[in-house]
Amino acid sequence: MRYVQEQEEWNQFIQDSLGEKCVLVNISSISSDCRVYKTTDAIFKIRRLTPASIRGRNNCLEDEYLVLKHLSSVTGVPKVRSYKRIGQWEQLEMELLPELYGYDPTFGRPQETCKDFWDVARVTLRMNRLGCSHGDLHWCNVGKNIRGGVSVFDFDQACMEHPLRCVLRDMFGFGTCEKRSKVSLWDRLQGVRIIGLLLRAMVKLSRQLVNFILRTGSSSLQQNQRLKVALTQRVRLQADPGLELLAEAWNIASLAKASSPGVDIAYYSIDISGVNFPGERPWLLRWERIRKNIDFKGKRLLELGCNMGLLSIHAKLSGASACLGIDVDREILEAANLASRAFGTEVIYRQFDLADSSPWEEELNGFDVISALSVLHWIENKERVWSFIGKHKEMLYEGHESEQEAESNLRRAGFTKIVRLGLTERNRQMFYASQE
Ligand SMILES: C[S@@+](CC[C@H](N)C(=O)[O-])C[C@H]1O[C@@H](n2cnc3c(N)ncnc32)[C@H](O)[C@@H]1O
Repeated sequence: MRYVQEQEEWNQFIQDSLGEKCVLVNISSISSDCRVYKTTDAIFKIRRLTPASIRGRNNCLEDEYLVLKHLSSVTGVPKVRSYKRIGQWEQLEMELLPELYGYDPTFGRPQETCKDFWDVARVTLRMNRLGCSHGDLHWCNVGKNIRGGVSVFDFDQACMEHPLRCVLRDMFGFGTCEKRSKVSLWDRLQGVRIIGLLLRAMVKLSRQLVNFILRTGSSSLQQNQRLKVALTQRVRLQADPGLELLAEAWNIASLAKASSPGVDIAYYSIDISGVNFPGERPWLLRWERIRKNIDFKGKRLLELGCNMGLLSIHAKLSGASACLGIDVDREILEAANLASRAFGTEVIYRQFDLADSSPWEEELNGFDVISALSVLHWIENKERVWSFIGKHKEMLYEGHESEQEAESNLRRAGFTKIVRLGLTERNRQMFYASQE
């Protein structure tokens, strides 16, 4: 499996083209070969062309560049600077929007949300007037600066068409983009959306009828494209036993109950050798925050709520002397074992329920680093787990509480040095804490 080599190639390319100081800010969950970096004055979108990153529904970065150039007069759309293609790498450079932060409408007051909604609609209508539809409007693609101005980004599903069609596509969801996000910005205007959905269903039905009669059209083209990707993926899987093991692991993980409630996809997504293993969260975004700040060499790691064990596997690949991953879910541990074999690492996994009244702490001692990423939220007796965590010298933490609460929980557990590692893809802070 070419995994380690691929990550080194990424790191090398980023270091050569953007320098040491750039920060990874986003990875697409449908392809970890599509990443966004930030430097002091620019945003770079980088794509490595692999079968998994070339998807039917997305534009190539050159198209995105042309769209953004066309929209250069619209306030609230990032100003594009350049596009480069270097071998299999595409690079799009945009101006860094000052003081921009990721946006979550559920945090604000209702009147603030309404104003933001209206501001986004205004930016969208200005784009539509210029004959461009965004095609993927939802809050993850909206940013807000501290003065309250909103910006819309991520134009990888944008297209140029008649202004009226643009409005229909962005406001009501008609049009070429088949997989519009379910968490749509327009969900909030339920009435409008219901009319939109009805009309959309009618248009879709008549289009399918026409396609069926003519046996042509964009949806069958798209299906062919998807089929091609699926076939390439299958051939690659069969050619590499490591990838086959991973496919089995991802299958089990997607059926296990260890992802977010109600979700039937694995928790992590990752691309390896041009194959996309789909999941809720791009693993490499998490790992990038961790690998740059924690030295695992020679240390023993205990991973609480390990899920598929990717942290333990990567810590082992980075020189950890031993890793133990524990989780309550038996099936996910089966997936973790397969993943660990696929990566050629030796990690031990054991089934433990941290909410259980039995003295599980007694069996889990002698570790240098403990990790609790997105796991304490699911456990009722948090105090007990915090007091166990406090027995360790180093800790890696991501919680569901606010940043201030998380810091105070870490301090109460006895950690004196707390470092913020950056936001995860769900806008939650990740911490590295240690005790003198
Ligand atoms: C949201 S996932 C987080 C996975 C991983 N720690 C990460 O963030 O990258 C939560 C994990 O905690 C596990 N979990 C939930 N309750 C648990 C419990 N009582 N004891 C042990 N593990 C638990 C789940 O099975 C799941 O794999």
